[in-house]
Amino acid sequence: MGRFTLFNFFLLSLLCTSGLAENPYRYFTWKVTYGTVSPLGVPQEVIMINDQFPGPNINSTTNDNIVVNVFNQLDEPFLISWNGVQQRKNSWQDGMPGTNCPIPPGGNYTYQFQVKDQIGTYFYFLSTSFHKAAGGFGGLRVNSRMYIPVPFDPPAEDYTLLIGDWYTKSHKELRKRLDDSKSLGKPCGVLINGRTGKNAETLTVEPGKTYRIRISNVGIKTSLNFRIEGHALLLVEIEGSHTVQNVYESLDVHVGQSYSVLVTANQAVKDYQIVASTRFTKYILTGTAVLHYSGATEGVSDAALSGPTGVAFSLNQFRSFRWNLTASAARPNPQGSYHYGSIPIVRTIKLASSIGKIEGKLRYAINGVSYKQASTPLKLADYYEMGKEVWCDKCMPDSPPEEEMKEETNVVDGVHRDFIEIVFENREKTVQTWHLNGYSFFAVGMSRGTWTPESRNVYNLFDAISRSNIQVYPKSWSAILLTTDNAGMWSLRSEIWERQYLGQQLYLRIPSPVHSLRDEYDIPLNTPHCGLVANKGEPTKAD
Ligand SMILES: *[C@@H]1O[C@H](CO)[C@@H](O)[C@H](O)[C@H]1NC(C)=O
Ligand SMILES: *[C@@H]1O[C@H](CO)[C@@H](O)[C@H](O)[C@H]1NC(C)=O
Ligand SMILES: *[C@@H]1O[C@H](CO)[C@@H](O)[C@H](O)[C@H]1NC(C)=O
Repeated sequence: MGRFTLFNFFLLSLLCTSGLAENPYRYFTWKVTYGTVSPLGVPQEVIMINDQFPGPNINSTTNDNIVVNVFNQLDEPFLISWNGVQQRKNSWQDGMPGTNCPIPPGGNYTYQFQVKDQIGTYFYFLSTSFHKAAGGFGGLRVNSRMYIPVPFDPPAEDYTLLIGDWYTKSHKELRKRLDDSKSLGKPCGVLINGRTGKNAETLTVEPGKTYRIRISNVGIKTSLNFRIEGHALLLVEIEGSHTVQNVYESLDVHVGQSYSVLVTANQAVKDYQIVASTRFTKYILTGTAVLHYSGATEGVSDAALSGPTGVAFSLNQFRSFRWNLTASAARPNPQGSYHYGSIPIVRTIKLASSIGKIEGKLRYAINGVSYKQASTPLKLADYYEMGKEVWCDKCMPDSPPEEEMKEETNVVDGVHRDFIEIVFENREKTVQTWHLNGYSFFAVGMSRGTWTPESRNVYNLFDAISRSNIQVYPKSWSAILLTTDNAGMWSLRSEIWERQYLGQQLYLRIPSPVHSLRDEYDIPLNTPHCGLVANKGEPTKAD
């Protein structure tokens, strides 16, 4: 009897010291509705969260547990995805159509995830049915824990600016255009925190103080250049990595990317323009906000601030981004203690994008395969061992074929803890951006022309930025390296949203080799079931 009690006590103490139990919980209740705003002077329907457009920012600290109960008061099902949050062992909460059943109108779902071992600047967005074009996005920041040194002094304030191109047509009209094989056409403007021009967002600063500004491009298709009249931008962080602190006059922020800069209010006391303007477009659209010095009476000047032109500026800027090897990230050990450059590559996947028609309909593809949406989330199909009925896992070759385009529910199988190389080839004339959920990868290189194995000679194998999003310039390639150490079902997609909607995506499946809870959490009890697994409901515990 005594032994038994002691054993129980031992179990209990194990539970109580587990990391998950000790980290704070941050609870949110979100009501998602339509609302009307006129950011470009024309009233239009947008998606609001708790009556806000953009949605509320999530402020968290490394390892916090985030619990968001989302109520769908739209007339369409949707999901929320957490761009750049790695969801370690937990693709159950990734909020992509391949991982979750959409939340039905009138229904609610509670996301619960941990921002495990992460710091940095991210955002969330609605991942379904082109909802991203209507709003429903917001900032998500992960602060360093108290005792982890941050490589700069605490800023006087920490601001979030969500920049993005914007259409005045509703997401339903835009979606119909794509369904009818028409292009979206050019955006109508650029917004900063859902506003621009006369109603612009204002950041108030005190002379002499230094501010952190977090910038994310939450737009649909356009790379943007970000700058502040008369003020230098000191780059400090990119998508969870502390950078070498270089000074920039302006930054190119491609769709889906996030950057943090420090800005010191060291100019004459007046108001200054904050600008986000389109890049690589024939037209230039500009969105503005205001940097307001407290006490200033002189408003912003009307002078248009011109931005950089051409690809070379942007390419050189990418190459100037360096990981600060001695700074800490989520843990006190230096970022550079992970020597990614000395790990042998076991697999190379070359992905080329293409545009074409299938049965007369406009489609985009990766290596000739255009993604076909499945009615059963792939992650659930996998759990119930029904993958074969839902997806095709040998449809896409590891290198671009020269065949006709086909449409498949495209899953690429990977091996847990492999070290792989992914090369993105852009044979087209427009800039592209790619995002991988579940991971932070090393953005080791990019160049003009076609990738060959010799291209590895120009990789940065020393201090490349670890991030989740990378751009590919026209007729160019970009390469990333990563360890596939996060078991789950992960979306790899074009961030150019019309391309994603029309098939330029796939899922990377990384199974846990021994189905161990050490590698992947069990299916959450509140998981909705739909499609082929609709009747499985209330799952029993896995063995
Ligand atoms: C965000 O959280 C940090 C750390 O808890 C806190 O210092 C800061 O004031 C918070 N900021 C906002 C805007 O809530
Ligand atoms: C829906 O909201 C109710 C009320 O807050 C909550 O009790 C329930 O767990 C939520 N349902 C899901 C699936 O998250
Ligand atoms: C890198 O981080 C270290 C440690 O916090 C800091 O002292 C140093 O100034 C940073 N270096 C650069 C070049 O930003």
